[in-house]
Amino acid sequence: MTDPAFIHRFVPAPTLATAPTLLLLHGTGGNEEDLLDLGQSLLPDANLLSPRGKVLEGAMPRFFRRLAEGVFDLEDLKFRTHELAEFVTTMAQAYRFNPHKVVAVGYSNGANIAASLLLQEPNVLRAAVLLHAMVPFVPNTLPDLTGKPVFLSAGRADPIVAPENTQQLATLLGQAGADVVLHWQPGGHQLSREEFEAARTWLSKRDF
Ligand code: MLT
Repeated sequence: MTDPAFIHRFVPAPTLATAPTLLLLHGTGGNEEDLLDLGQSLLPDANLLSPRGKVLEGAMPRFFRRLAEGVFDLEDLKFRTHELAEFVTTMAQAYRFNPHKVVAVGYSNGANIAASLLLQEPNVLRAAVLLHAMVPFVPNTLPDLTGKPVFLSAGRADPIVAPENTQQLATLLGQAGADVVLHWQPGGHQLSREEFEAARTWLSKRDF
């Protein structure tokens, strides 16, 4: 059975009920503190909701189990995606933020579960910023993501996420109707200042 409780941080904006909420999803080995500063700088007037992934790989929290690097346990991914969707809905009621204004910001493993949310639970997210994401799974039927804004950024020299994989994700989301921007930078898997700025500019131009 799913359990919608996650260890998390919630930081309300002054205009809590009308503000967008950034759903911050950390990478493997991270926690709920990791992306708070990033989220605050990305969209200063947003609420921040930052859960800690419940799956442990050794001592490293993740959002779903994997069998090897880049090889995902698809049953667990499906289950955890559903559980995360329930968490968001439950927290919207508990903290009284608008459930229709949730924008995921995920890095690496967190970006992968955010992509999975888009594919499996498309109504949970208003938009998504996917930093160094890969295709989490290929759905039998594409969801309807018509007009949903998605910002993807990737490193051409990323040793964990092959550029073709990010390109495939962009294509998949685009086929589902999402309004996808794919931003390339020359580096590897680390977040670069330049892609942070690109994500910030992209967010600032949208009216959530
Ligand atoms: C994953 O397992 O989600 C990806 O390989 C990214 C990561 O290393 O966490």
